[in-house]
Amino acid sequence: MLSGKRILLIISGGIAAYKALELIRRLRERGAAVTPVLTSSAREFVTPLSVSALAGEKVYTDLFDLTDEAEMGHIQLSRVADLVLVAPATADLMAKMAQGSASDLASTLLLATDTPVMIAPAMNVRMWEHPATQRNLDTLKRDGITVIGPDEGDMACGEYGRGRLVEVPQIVAAVERALADGPLKGRRVLVTSGPTHEPIDPVRYIANRSSGAQGTAIAEALRDLGAEVVFVTGPAEKARPTGVEVIEVESALEMRAAVLGALPVAVGVFAAAVADWRVAQASGSKIKKQAGRLPVLEFAENPDILAEVSALGDERPGLVVGFAAETDDVVANATAKRWRKGCDWILANDVSPATGIMGGSENAVVLISEAGAEPWPRMDKRAVAERLAARIAEALGA
Ligand code: C5P
Repeated sequence: MLSGKRILLIISGGIAAYKALELIRRLRERGAAVTPVLTSSAREFVTPLSVSALAGEKVYTDLFDLTDEAEMGHIQLSRVADLVLVAPATADLMAKMAQGSASDLASTLLLATDTPVMIAPAMNVRMWEHPATQRNLDTLKRDGITVIGPDEGDMACGEYGRGRLVEVPQIVAAVERALADGPLKGRRVLVTSGPTHEPIDPVRYIANRSSGAQGTAIAEALRDLGAEVVFVTGPAEKARPTGVEVIEVESALEMRAAVLGALPVAVGVFAAAVADWRVAQASGSKIKKQAGRLPVLEFAENPDILAEVSALGDERPGLVVGFAAETDDVVANATAKRWRKGCDWILANDVSPATGIMGGSENAVVLISEAGAEPWPRMDKRAVAERLAARIAEALGA
């Protein structure tokens, strides 16, 4: 249910705008109050009168509407809601959002808001697939905006493909998920994920095979329990989680700076596969190939971020969780690692090639804590993440 929740619904122009009328009805049926905002092109598709009749509220349309400024300024309007929902979101509005443009009421509200934002894009398939829209989409996801859809199917313009607004019940379900009062609501948590890239010169680097799958799933599971997640990720192939703050880094040194900058947090989960060494003196220019001479790289040890955070005083998170990827004596090695690193829990897994875990979709972990070793059955990485998130909530007494 959405009782007591207020949604600022921004309707942008496009044939799918008519579905916003149905959306308003369904949101209100679930108990939400809806403050509607129409862009000027949306007014070509739906009338302010029908929108306001269904919402039972005034419709906001113009930035320079002086009455509105007297009653409620745009900054306040952008912040009265529990969620800002853009449905449908056109390619144009997505571009404005990605640019940080404030050229009309809708884009100004989106720039001024401090409330979570969810968008449901709808547009022609070519427009959706255009590199510019995909670039904007990446930017918006990195900015922590939740994106639902679009769906694939027949389009009003006669073409077939991805670009249809997701069905109204799905949008309502996503809104309910986003506004759920989970047990970790109000808790700030940090998750590190992915590999690190250690530069050799401007074009070469040392990397590892981490896909970021487990770290991403953990960030999503913590988000779904209501946590405010800071996701510090190296250059991983896995798509970034939505609805979280994403900080992109390349090297271990950058990851360390991002982690320390994100503190204080209630919980730190360190799932990144951080390179143990970096090249001591990365070259500022490309190292030239020289006949008969091989370059010699000297290494320096990277800081152990998990150990450093575990050893902090006042700023130490209340719960610090590390990972241990082992190939033999998993429990013994991981138990020793827990002591060495000073963290509270270690999730240990056997990454011997025969297990197929590294790069695979499943994981078999042992949770090592003060209480001892607790093996979990082999399961999907998503299920491991959900179980870990539930245990974290339990440990926090949430
Ligand atoms: O020592 P090892 O790399 O096996 O430790 C793994 C754990 O330590 C993981 O939780 C990993 O994210 C973390 N780690 C770290 N900084 C490093 C190396 C590992 O945070 N430089």
